[in-house]
Amino acid sequence: MAAVANGAKVLRERFQTTVQIETKGLANFVTEADLGSERVIVQTIRDRYPHHAVISEESHNDRADSKELWIIDPLDGTSNFMHNIPHFAISVGYYLDGQPELGIVCNPIRDDWYVAVKGQGAWHNGVRQRVESSDRIDATMITCGFYYDRDRMMQATLDTIGDFFRNNIHGMRRFGAAALDLCNVGCGQYGLFFEYKLHPWDYAAGQLFLTEAGGQASDCDGKSLPLNQASSICASNGLLHRQAIEIMSPHWKRLREG
Ligand code: IPD
Ligand code: CA
Ligand code: CA
Repeated sequence: MAAVANGAKVLRERFQTTVQIETKGLANFVTEADLGSERVIVQTIRDRYPHHAVISEESHNDRADSKELWIIDPLDGTSNFMHNIPHFAISVGYYLDGQPELGIVCNPIRDDWYVAVKGQGAWHNGVRQRVESSDRIDATMITCGFYYDRDRMMQATLDTIGDFFRNNIHGMRRFGAAALDLCNVGCGQYGLFFEYKLHPWDYAAGQLFLTEAGGQASDCDGKSLPLNQASSICASNGLLHRQAIEIMSPHWKRLREG
């Protein structure tokens, strides 16, 4: 908690100020705020647990099969941050022998804390959370993300959204911070979240929050999410999982097969 609180302070101080921006790829940016938040989060963890491994988006890349591993996104939703949109988060997951033990996602502007402990539930600001109970795609709201791609992956995402609408979903929202999207599925706001490419730091904490809330997270083939590489993701209340994967399947297959 202390590590996330320290990172949150950095993000609050830098929000709506002029920050230096660098480009990692098309529409993919890193700011001083990402780096400043990362520095204090990693430092706080290292001070307490000097022998634990760390994977952090901007600078630390220890082995994903380490016994005790922290996986960190110091600023999830950098584009929102840069555009003064107060919807972004810090995401910190702790894994023991490859299994999630603790997940914390925090929106520092709203002071929103999503905390999950293995076997002890998913909690939003101290209130226990549960996924929505709908088992019908035509009775749910969905959310999704677009990876930094304006080509085939973008087209596949748009085609998939079209198919979800043809299945009469209530609506689709796109907020721009995957860690929060996962927690929001856990809180029962959406029945489903999907994205065709995410990294472990985007979902390391959120997937535990979701499963502790009774939901399910997998890649688009239904397999568990890897910690050592990027992956597609389908995250749901569990009841909608199979239907969602079926709807995504032709688009995902076409995308994967090139
Ligand atoms: C991004 C956000 C976004 C998702 C992108 C991610 P970042 O993380 O989670 O919602 O669509 O794929 O990369 O780059 O802001 O940490
Ligand atoms: Ca991210
Ligand atoms: Ca990030």
